[in-house]
Amino acid sequence: MNPAITVRRRRKAWSHERTAGRCEWLTPPEIIRALGEFDLDPCAPLRRPWPTAKRHWTLREDGLAQPWFGRIWLNPPYGRETAAWLARLAAHGNGIALVFARTETRMFFDYVWNHADAVLFLQGRLTFLNPDGTRPSGSGGAPSCLIAYGAGNATVLAASGLAGKFIHLKRRKSPCEFNGTV
Ligand SMILES: C[S@@+](CC[C@H](N)C(=O)[O-])C[C@H]1O[C@@H](n2cnc3c(N)ncnc32)[C@H](O)[C@@H]1O
Repeated sequence: MNPAITVRRRRKAWSHERTAGRCEWLTPPEIIRALGEFDLDPCAPLRRPWPTAKRHWTLREDGLAQPWFGRIWLNPPYGRETAAWLARLAAHGNGIALVFARTETRMFFDYVWNHADAVLFLQGRLTFLNPDGTRPSGSGGAPSCLIAYGAGNATVLAASGLAGKFIHLKRRKSPCEFNGTV
């Protein structure tokens, strides 16, 4: 856990951006496959058409109230509640999140720009899937990005082959800087 990060949870229940109360939008499985195996999805659907990790927390257990362990896959509930989930992953420090690329928001500055290791801005609009795994007619309401926490996850993201723009956020020191001889 990174003690510098405060995990704030809003009292309001989750809601989906622009989609009238629906939050069961599933990640296309090929995205998760491209990122390797995850130990835990802390916000998985009650009925999932496929596993997203080795273990899953659902609404029944309340994933935010449970322990998080290992490598996390996180496509969190949408809306104002998203920040609390991203804060938790930033504090945990090991995993990859999929969120809307709202780069100007306080959430993005608090938990992505200033804490993540890397971001992959996905090319085009992702089409999230229906709860039964079928494809809806429209695509997501905004561009999406994948956010890596931990150097290993940044490496996996860079090598994923997913189309988009990859940006390293944690600059490694060059040998010159390391020796103090810039
Ligand atoms: C955007 S969907 C993503 C589902 C899945 N993680 C994926 O990547 O396909 C968000 C999921 O969070 C679940 N969820 C909402 N609140 C939760 C909570 N407090 N604890 C665990 N899961 C929750 C919803 O049921 C929904 O399945």
